[in-house]
Amino acid sequence: MDISNFRREYLKGGLKREHLAADPVDQFTDWFEQARKTDIADPTAMILATVDSTGRPSQRTVLLKYYDSGGYVFFTNYESRKAKEIAENPKVSLLFVWLELERQIMINGQARKISTAESAKYFMSRPKESQVAAWVSSQSHKLSSRQMLMQKFAEMKKKIGEGQVPLPSFWGGYKVVPDEYEFWQGRKNRLHDRFHYLPTSDGWQIERLAP
Ligand SMILES: Cc1cc2nc3c(=O)[nH]c(=O)nc-3n(C[C@H](O)[C@H](O)[C@H](O)COP(=O)(O)O)c2cc1C
Repeated sequence: MDISNFRREYLKGGLKREHLAADPVDQFTDWFEQARKTDIADPTAMILATVDSTGRPSQRTVLLKYYDSGGYVFFTNYESRKAKEIAENPKVSLLFVWLELERQIMINGQARKISTAESAKYFMSRPKESQVAAWVSSQSHKLSSRQMLMQKFAEMKKKIGEGQVPLPSFWGGYKVVPDEYEFWQGRKNRLHDRFHYLPTSDGWQIERLAP
């Protein structure tokens, strides 16, 4: 099949300098609220790119759980590949792609572990099965079979019974503290709108970039 002809025009909207918020977190909120109200399967899904100590990049999807001007928080296994790479190099990149709105947002920054108390608070709010799954999955490590995983899950569920599932020491949140943003809105004839935010001593500097 020839896929080279797969294309469409992006006609949903435009982005003007005078309509941008001075603070990128406000701009993010504006777009995120629109994404939330749009029929998008997982508006909180974001691509997380990390780079290991040799400069080799890798990416995966994670879910944004909360954010504010201080950063963007997701939860994961602290012994996973991403965690190992963040320990080697805390510089990461997040990407939200909302194709239904013909928009993407890139957020670059440094990832830091959040406190155990904060992780515990979120962990306790998860469904019990997800809590048990966090315990039994050695994320990113070799697994001999799915059956093995299901067996560990069943055993752990039985062991815990009606009790509360404690926070695993190897599981928790990262906060990505942003130091660069880019907001992209698709336009006709590939003449898209792009705005780049960089922090200065005097607030955020905003520049339009060529598409
Ligand atoms: C829609 C979606 C949401 C996901 N959310 C998370 C998440 O919040 N945390 C997480 O650790 N993995 C999440 N995953 C799985 C990751 O993409 C990835 O497979 C896993 O974290 C292991 O990544 P790593 O081996 O690079 O560390 C999600 C995957 C998808 C497709």
